[in-house]
Amino acid sequence: MARITAGVASSHVPLLGVAVDQGKTQDDYFGPIFKGYEWTKKWEEEQKPDVIVLVYNDHASAFDANIIPTFAIGCGETYKPADEGWGPRPVPDVEGHADLGWHIAQSLILDDFDMTIINEMEVDHGLTVPLSMMFGQPDNWPVKVVPLAVNVVTYPVPSGNRCWALGEAIARAVESFPEDLNVQIWGTGGMSHQLQGPRAGLLNREWDNKFLDLMIGETDAARHIPHIEYLRETGSEGIELIMWLIMRGALGKKTKCLHRHYHIPCSNTAIGHLVLEPDN
Ligand code: DHB
Ligand code: FE
Repeated sequence: MARITAGVASSHVPLLGVAVDQGKTQDDYFGPIFKGYEWTKKWEEEQKPDVIVLVYNDHASAFDANIIPTFAIGCGETYKPADEGWGPRPVPDVEGHADLGWHIAQSLILDDFDMTIINEMEVDHGLTVPLSMMFGQPDNWPVKVVPLAVNVVTYPVPSGNRCWALGEAIARAVESFPEDLNVQIWGTGGMSHQLQGPRAGLLNREWDNKFLDLMIGETDAARHIPHIEYLRETGSEGIELIMWLIMRGALGKKTKCLHRHYHIPCSNTAIGHLVLEPDN
């Protein structure tokens, strides 16, 4: 039986992908950011997950204003890194797990979540930067990935409560897959960031850390944070944090925190990172 063994949350700032690709992870600026991922890199080497259900958002790379799926799941065999304007990142193709992807898609749809099914797409920094943060620069990524894309770019975006419930349904789906697989669920994006307008560069350390606290232990209060609070407290792109709720919902009633990291600034955003285990 497949099982979700852990949840990983991380911001997916594109500049961090550039730092990895250009060998700058140890310099004065990036060093303290990457130091907070060293624990996780070692832990991932020991954990050896088979598959990651990687919750992320596409930033107008695979989708655009013509088609805006609220929740989309990748059921393909492989995904190439997207060209986001300066050529695709020099990272390996991402290998999918089509059988698990289709199984989760079927389970979610029959569980009343109307997923968009994706067989072919390119994946952008939302997905590849967290892989680089957790696995460095291997010739091939050491895990398969089931991408799960969430619309956080164009309103209306899904409610936090819906995201949490989707996570719970993903856990049921994974647990009903007959093959013995070690599956992790990752939530990416956030933390506070506003990329444009007069409030560009807004950082809110206090609110971000309260949100990190809410991912740990038994509380499910985060599922009821309204969209307007993310906007007001963390900036317009802080809404990406609702993707962490899918990860958290999939871990069940209670979590234990194995690792926590927060740093500002990174580019003109905050980064946050958690490694959680179900503690039910
Ligand atoms: C930036 C872009 C993102 O998608 C994100 O999540 C954080 C930062 C950026 O352009 O700096
Ligand atoms: Fe983003």
